[in-house]
Amino acid sequence: MDRLQIGLIGWGTVGSALGELVRTGPLPMTLAAIAVRDRERPGLPKGVQVGGADLALQADVVVELAGGLDGPLAWARQALDRGKPYVTANKALLATHGRELAEIADRRVAALLGSASVGGGTPMIEATQHLAATGAIERIRGILNATTTYILSAMGEGRSYDEALREAQDAGYAEADPSFDVDGRDAAQKLAILASVAWGRWRPEQDVDTTGIVGHEVAAGETIRLVAEATKGSLSVKPMPIDPTDPMARAAGIENVLEITVADAGVYRVSGPGAGGRVTAGAVYGDLARLAAGERPVLFGSPS
Ligand SMILES: NC(=O)c1ccc[n+]([C@@H]2O[C@H](COP(=O)([O-])OP(=O)(O)OC[C@H]3O[C@@H](n4cnc5c(N)ncnc54)[C@H](OP(=O)(O)O)[C@@H]3O)[C@@H](O)[C@H]2O)c1
Repeated sequence: MDRLQIGLIGWGTVGSALGELVRTGPLPMTLAAIAVRDRERPGLPKGVQVGGADLALQADVVVELAGGLDGPLAWARQALDRGKPYVTANKALLATHGRELAEIADRRVAALLGSASVGGGTPMIEATQHLAATGAIERIRGILNATTTYILSAMGEGRSYDEALREAQDAGYAEADPSFDVDGRDAAQKLAILASVAWGRWRPEQDVDTTGIVGHEVAAGETIRLVAEATKGSLSVKPMPIDPTDPMARAAGIENVLEITVADAGVYRVSGPGAGGRVTAGAVYGDLARLAAGERPVLFGSPS
């Protein structure tokens, strides 16, 4: 079998971990090109062509691990339009332009994959895909954002919002500008992707009724979490009280939890750290394994 030539855009936390997996892993593939902004940056592997996105777009498969929206949208359109599989961990791209990209992928018999876009290395999209095959998913419910879990837990222990946020920033759980997380957008994008997979029809972030945690009061001793919840007809993200005996209440630190309810079967749960370079790269590598096996999957099924 010919070795798949991978064009990788982005050599950060996940991109460099993927590079190592491609180099050492068992799949018949080669890292053919890496696109970075700074071509002199240390740590780039020897013997691999380094350039801009145009170079990576010439490979058999394009993997985007750069983040952002405008660049990735243009690269995805170009790759898919040329019939090349596009693999990404970019939740913003998939929750904003997923329908258009799935349509191009379908039309051009390319492939669109994004297993790493939700849950990092925790197989949330994979579990949802597996159960979606039953055609009987009734509900999905999850805690999908670690920053808000950290802040709400600390508030439940008696800290104010400002104190909890500062603590989360000091511990590396929150960005200097935390708005994407605390406004609920990160969880809303992840929920939109999971719901799209669960019911085989793309749903944008805008369909999610989203309430963030800013201004939400938490009484000492109360367990509140930012809960993402979807049925076929409704999607919401909001802070809600959780019974301490609910398995979702155990989500702490960077742990994310997803519950999938299937009619006449029951509740399935998957949980694990929502981030991490090597494990997130592992999810991307899993997508590449499907391509190496000759599959041409389109993440949201055939758009209708
Ligand atoms: N880290 C995780 O645990 C995790 C988990 C799930 C999903 N993700 C997703 O995975 C993607 C990558 O995340 P990351 O943590 O690896 O980010 P990161 O460490 O910031 O790396 C991003 C890399 O992309 C490069 N880049 C940005 N724009 C570029 C452009 N126009 N052309 C070429 N290269 C460009 C950056 O180059 P410079 O260094 O020059 O800026 C940087 O090397 C994001 O979509 C993120 O949401 C990450």
